[in-house]
Amino acid sequence: MKIAFYSSQPYDITFFEKVNTSYQHTLIFHDYALNEDTVDLVKDITCICVFVNDKLTEAVLEKLYSKGVRLVALRCAGFNNIDIAAADKLGITVVRVPAYSPESVAEHALALILSLSRHIHRAYNRVRESNFSLNGLLGFELHNATVGIVGTGQIGTALAKILTGFGCNIIAYDPYPSDECVDLGVTYLDFKTLCQQADVISLHCPLNEQTHHLINESSLHDMKKGIMLINTSRGAMIDTQAAIDALKNKHIGYLGLDVYEQEENLFFQDLSDTIISDDMFERLLTFPNVLITGHQAFFTDRALTNIAETTLMNIQRFENHSECLHCCHI
Ligand code: NAI
Repeated sequence: MKIAFYSSQPYDITFFEKVNTSYQHTLIFHDYALNEDTVDLVKDITCICVFVNDKLTEAVLEKLYSKGVRLVALRCAGFNNIDIAAADKLGITVVRVPAYSPESVAEHALALILSLSRHIHRAYNRVRESNFSLNGLLGFELHNATVGIVGTGQIGTALAKILTGFGCNIIAYDPYPSDECVDLGVTYLDFKTLCQQADVISLHCPLNEQTHHLINESSLHDMKKGIMLINTSRGAMIDTQAAIDALKNKHIGYLGLDVYEQEENLFFQDLSDTIISDDMFERLLTFPNVLITGHQAFFTDRALTNIAETTLMNIQRFENHSECLHCCHI
């Protein structure tokens, strides 16, 4: 089958071409994103492969359908960037990679937690400048800290397992509690109580209508002063302006982000020679207690291999009319 990739990066080409030796599909890589501005460039294709910042609205899907697209293969887990109801109505199948390495994201969340709690990002720069002063680098220990995990699916559970080893008191909120987490000793609470009790909160649920701006002025108000907030899930789960206000009045003590509300204009590109016009993002960068990575939590060799294997298997199953294993539904 001929597959057109969008938002593709050199590492996508490397991993997909390697795995494709077992499939022999024709892979066409486009480095630009698929959205309302670029959909007219699509032609003569049944299957497209997209990533987190391609935007498949109803209008884009209608155009894709009219151009012959019948399969959208997401090479990621989240599917908030696709209007699934519109795809269903049109008869376009949408598949994804539900689990490629939950540990890759859980370990990155831990990296953000530890870097912030011990100020590693600041210490790194200081030592390189021969500044060995410890003033301002006072840390806190994870041992006995209360960590609140919002969403205990695959990634949240992987993080809970890791944090058990640190001796944390783990609390969680999820409308569908996991038996595995209960067995680990995780205590489930309602969201408000979790906000009130946690020293660290890490977000691991999908972005949808219920979770959009889950972290807002009101939920921030419920949190302890000095809270550490970690988001490796999707940017729009945090109301960025509310977070900036809470950083300014020192209510948020630490903020670790791998995702950002307006990241599609920034992430996955080298913008080092340009002027960034996103003032909110630039304001975030001014805080010493904010650590941002550019949506790299998934970015490990194991995860990229698994993504390529599952995506090409999903596509092969569609071509063979086999039962869909990883279809997205509302
Ligand atoms: P999952 O589907 O295994 O787990 C999601 C959990 O969230 C489920 O247990 C579900 O019941 C829970 N949930 C749903 N609505 C909720 C709500 N309103 N409040 C609290 N919990 C709620 O998903 P997985 O694999 O653990 O991934 C979680 C998210 O992480 C994905 O949706 C995606 O947005 C993000 N992600 C980010 C990556 C990165 O590189 N930064 C990579 C992979 C995923």
